Amino acid sequence: MAEARALRVAVVGCGKIAAAHAGAYVRDGRARLAAAVDPAAEAAADFARRFGVPRTYPDHRAMLDAERPDVVSVCTWPPDHPAPVVDAAAAGARGILCEKPLAVTLPEADRMLAAAERAGAVFMVGHQRRLEARYRLARDLIASGALGEVVDVHGTCGGDLLTDGTHLFDLARFLLGDPPAAHVFAGIDVTLPERMAPTGFGTLHYNATHRRYGHRIEGGAAGHVQFAPPDGARAGPRFRFETGSMARPFGYQHFRVEGTQGRLAVSGDPADGERAWLRVQRRGGGPGGAWEDVPLPPCDPLAAEVGALIDSVLAGAPTPDAALLAAGSARADLELVLAALDSAVRRRLIGLPASLTDHPLERLDAGETRSQGGTAP
Ligand SMILES: NC(=O)c1ccc[n+]([C@@H]2O[C@H](COP(=O)([O-])OP(=O)(O)OC[C@H]3O[C@@H](n4cnc5c(N)ncnc54)[C@H](O)[C@@H]3O)[C@@H](O)[C@H]2O)c1
Repeated sequence: MAEARALRVAVVGCGKIAAAHAGAYVRDGRARLAAAVDPAAEAAADFARRFGVPRTYPDHRAMLDAERPDVVSVCTWPPDHPAPVVDAAAAGARGILCEKPLAVTLPEADRMLAAAERAGAVFMVGHQRRLEARYRLARDLIASGALGEVVDVHGTCGGDLLTDGTHLFDLARFLLGDPPAAHVFAGIDVTLPERMAPTGFGTLHYNATHRRYGHRIEGGAAGHVQFAPPDGARAGPRFRFETGSMARPFGYQHFRVEGTQGRLAVSGDPADGERAWLRVQRRGGGPGGAWEDVPLPPCDPLAAEVGALIDSVLAGAPTPDAALLAAGSARADLELVLAALDSAVRRRLIGLPASLTDHPLERLDAGETRSQGGTAP
């Protein structure tokens, strides 16, 4: 039998996360990096040298015309996610991995989803934390009923809602089994840099401009997402979030989940030399309700993400891991993040689905606080 041809991959945007994608494709071995795109010639050349990429282009359209890749990784800043995704789908890419957040507005996200669906491409978003052992095991524990009925999830992370909160909202949905949300309520902090805590995960620097990754950001946010009740339950779980300057404890993607029969906690990203952990406290289990450490197997989430994309392209349909990272799920995350920002700007509860067409923080620059988007529940 003829040996299977390696899938030809193009990477658009040659920065930090692109290197993580490229390393994962190389390690996987079933794909070959065929082309890289970056308008910054030096970034493209460095990337090509480092990962042995034969050709570089300053523009993704020229690359797609010349290369017709099987798989495209989109690693640009969020305002530059839609064009390469839509064009890659139209150019026949069978697999597309776009970085988070999916886009900056919902109409852009919908255009991307429609293009991928029209083309029949597998379309995933870089919410690779769903494939990390600590969150997978936490989700399994919750789903097994070990905590009873979940009533409250508390999640914290440094950074802003669109950049880092998208992981936090995505993981909260993941831990709870991706239930639909009923409403979102939030407030935001736009304090000046000198009032920010020193460990504000980049918000210190970015608050000087109120922009990051090409879009408007806030310095901190706090609020909640009310999820719909599961079948037969009277109330759904509530996810309370604190991000950026509001986050206590500091850390990155730290969670505590309270159930009627127990609770669990998942560490944020560990500092150098420390290890991530997952702890559970079951009612009636363990002396004095002690916390038990759940052993965590080693895992490489980027390898799992890229592996799921390649498996899906080869199979012609998303695998279960690819389905967890489906772009449609990332659209749900974006809707929650934008609804939280809309709630803060308009100072009211936002019912879901949200009919938002813009990035709510851009309204602050325009001096508007009540103009558009969102529906009252
Ligand atoms: N999944 C994760 O855990 C994770 C981690 C880090 C970053 N990200 C996401 O990845 C994306 C990129 O972040 P980064 O930190 O790698 O950014 P970066 O600034 O390091 O890299 C972006 C690169 O894109 C290039 N670029 C700009 N415009 C372009 C265009 N039109 N076409 C092609 N290239 C273009 C820039 O020159 C730069 O080299 C962001 O959406 C970010 O949120 C995800």
